[in-house]
Amino acid sequence: MPKRSWAEPFKIKMVELLKMTTPKQRKTAIKNAGYNTFLLKSEDVYIDLLTDSGTSAMSDRQWAGMMLGDEAYAGSKNFYNLEKAVHKYYGFKYVIPTHQGRGAENLLSQVMIKKGDIVPGNMYFTTTRLHQEMAGGTFYDIIIDEAHDSTHQHQFKGNVDINKLEALVKKYGADKIPYVCVATTVNMAGGQPISMQNLRELRAYTRHHGIKIMLDMTRIAENAYFIQQREEGFRRRSIASIVKEICDHTDGATFSGKKDALVNIGGFLALNDESKFEEASNLVVVYEGLHTYGGLAGRDMEAMAIGIEESVNEDHIRARIGQVEYLGEKLLDMHVPIVTPIGGHGIFIDARQFLPHLKQIQFPAQALAAEIYEDSGVRTMERGIVSAGRNSKTGDHYYPALELVRLTIPRRVYTQAHMDVISESVERVYSKRNKIKGLEMVYEPTYLRFFQAKFKKLQ
Ligand code: F0G
Repeated sequence: MPKRSWAEPFKIKMVELLKMTTPKQRKTAIKNAGYNTFLLKSEDVYIDLLTDSGTSAMSDRQWAGMMLGDEAYAGSKNFYNLEKAVHKYYGFKYVIPTHQGRGAENLLSQVMIKKGDIVPGNMYFTTTRLHQEMAGGTFYDIIIDEAHDSTHQHQFKGNVDINKLEALVKKYGADKIPYVCVATTVNMAGGQPISMQNLRELRAYTRHHGIKIMLDMTRIAENAYFIQQREEGFRRRSIASIVKEICDHTDGATFSGKKDALVNIGGFLALNDESKFEEASNLVVVYEGLHTYGGLAGRDMEAMAIGIEESVNEDHIRARIGQVEYLGEKLLDMHVPIVTPIGGHGIFIDARQFLPHLKQIQFPAQALAAEIYEDSGVRTMERGIVSAGRNSKTGDHYYPALELVRLTIPRRVYTQAHMDVISESVERVYSKRNKIKGLEMVYEPTYLRFFQAKFKKLQ
């Protein structure tokens, strides 16, 4: 086979112009934002790697779909198109649209979790865990230990450690565990996949104990790509068939359409159990809207239905992850410490290794994200102690093993030259890392503090 790079299977039809800023402007902007990149104005950002959520570029087909919005209050035809796409690509029986992933997490937690329940998962995600806790459950991390080691070369660091699950079953009893929450490409571990073999074993174990599996299928196509590339026996399987098999091993799912499905807003809850579906479709009316729109416009459901189909396209997913790997390889060549193997949706810099002179309570990842912005206008985000928040019972900070800065790559948005500029900026910051100071938190909101907390520089 001749060498062929991962180049994009699309061409650019419309562009959005970006404002270039000066170092002085950026210094003021990040200070005014309390050294929290979430509080920057988007127009002050050059390359926005804050998140891959809702920031992807839609295709001309999706935009054409937007014009076909059937904005009826009830029974919009776009809902039925979405339902058809969910049946075809994911196979779940019932679907309830929600405004985004956390809307579905709220519904799922309320219909499945009782006070005092235990909800094990392959590492926490911020909104997911909060909804589980607000419904009266307690989250337990049952991901394999290797996931907490930023350089361990395990190919499936998203795997569940079934022994950890068994210990919970022994301690609390299977009837206290309504479901295991399984994420595909585990965000907080650096976009690390779960293997099909692990999922099959988990399915066998949970079936035996009468425990359900609920999928957080937010980045399922990216996980399927890693299974195709790395797992024995999957080289010839299509992404679509791997995605379908993952869903087949589970009982339902929450989905944020803002990632894989290439839309700016939207999500859903999918279930196979009819009575839980009925309960959730009654509840959705309270929080989101009627069960055939769930807080979305008809046009948004149409764009999501089309995006689901595009997300499992082989050329698309190869180029998407190819671009992430391109940036990761560049940083590795510069000896910048990043989480490896390189994940699906971004590059995660290990801030502990990058800034070994800072203690975790001096918020090294938060400080590093602010520094990168100041250097180049590239906006990244903290995924460490600030994101981890506090233990809701003791009030103490969680001290996660991983203290990371996430360079999240939106899908179909930036070019290879942008990736080059990003790596040049990180290299520059790395060269002056000894001079970077820690931060002190001066404002802390109650929930999901990383979004709105404010900091000042330590002298
Ligand atoms: N689950 C995972 C794994 C996520 O990454 C997200 C969102 C959600 C659930 C919630 O979905 O935002 O549509 O309500 N992650 C975004 C991020 C915010 O930047 O990683 P949502």
